[in-house]
Amino acid sequence: MTAGIDYDYWTTDPHTGDPIPQSSSPTRIAEMVALADIEPGMRVLEIGTGTGYTAAVLAETVGPSGHVVSLDVDRELVARAAELHQRAGNSHVEIHVIDGTKGWETGAPYDRIIGWTTPHVLPEQWVQQSADGAVIVTPVKIIDIANAHAVIRCRIDHGKPADATAHPGSFIEMTSEPVTDFGQPLRYVDSIVTTDAGERAWISISGHDVAPEQAESIVRQLAAAEPHREWINPTEWRDFTGYLISSVSDGTPISASTGIGQGFGFTNQEGTALVLRDGSVVACGAAATMNTLRSLRDAWEHAGKPGFDAAAVVFTATDDGWRPCLRY
Ligand SMILES: C[S@@+](CC[C@H](N)C(=O)[O-])C[C@H]1O[C@@H](n2cnc3c(N)ncnc32)[C@H](O)[C@@H]1O
Repeated sequence: MTAGIDYDYWTTDPHTGDPIPQSSSPTRIAEMVALADIEPGMRVLEIGTGTGYTAAVLAETVGPSGHVVSLDVDRELVARAAELHQRAGNSHVEIHVIDGTKGWETGAPYDRIIGWTTPHVLPEQWVQQSADGAVIVTPVKIIDIANAHAVIRCRIDHGKPADATAHPGSFIEMTSEPVTDFGQPLRYVDSIVTTDAGERAWISISGHDVAPEQAESIVRQLAAAEPHREWINPTEWRDFTGYLISSVSDGTPISASTGIGQGFGFTNQEGTALVLRDGSVVACGAAATMNTLRSLRDAWEHAGKPGFDAAAVVFTATDDGWRPCLRY
């Protein structure tokens, strides 16, 4: 379906020829749209208009008998996308400037809701604005550390999310104002330092009850540590680290960047270990730290290297929505 829509037309700035920074990859978009299982005639709410490309894909998928409501906080992007949709004759697409956590009550109920930006919990308004049996596909936070995201697909059953499955995927955090600096996470960061090499390194520790000087000390040690190369196959990094942060019991999950690489790991009394995207590990503290990490890898391998799709998604009700977590 996405191949039928001209990606460059929607995602390129015609004046500079540069891609609009909010563009998502066509492969990712195709996967998310396929997960949502959208049929002609449906009413779809999308959160995160961005370039307008995904709304064009959704408009084509639901056809003229369907309807697409698209929301974004960025007034300029909305104006640009609305103009492109008008030119394309997509009269069944409407686009609004609003914080998408509120959804768009006027157009409810929706058969499908699809998010391209990560809310801090699955917003209650999305659930309330869903028809019974509707499907929501959206990135979510799976734990309160920076960048710990998954895409979930769930069905709304009598006003509650049900039958949820998890899938790998990460999108920018939802914010109430437009953001242009994508260089570091916006939330949950406990310390940011500049390394000796002049790179920006940061750490995010679950619970966030760590003293600032302790967080700074850990991130500096990780940035200076010699990497254990080829510790895990990089193609398995996402599955292993998703398991790690959801299952670690002897420590607190962390996400961090050493300035040259980002990853997930844990910290405890003995030390800290971080598994980077390239499959290497940086660690500081006692040797026992690496033993704990190896035990986690052994348990993951023993369990058949479960990916996100092997995890059960469990929701807890909060004041403003539903907090998902993955159970292996
Ligand atoms: C990954 S981009 C979306 C890509 C888009 N679907 C496309 O086809 O190009 C994420 C978008 O979410 C928007 N966004 C961030 N926070 C938001 C919020 N609270 N409500 C609505 N949109 C938001 C950003 O402005 C950005 O345009």
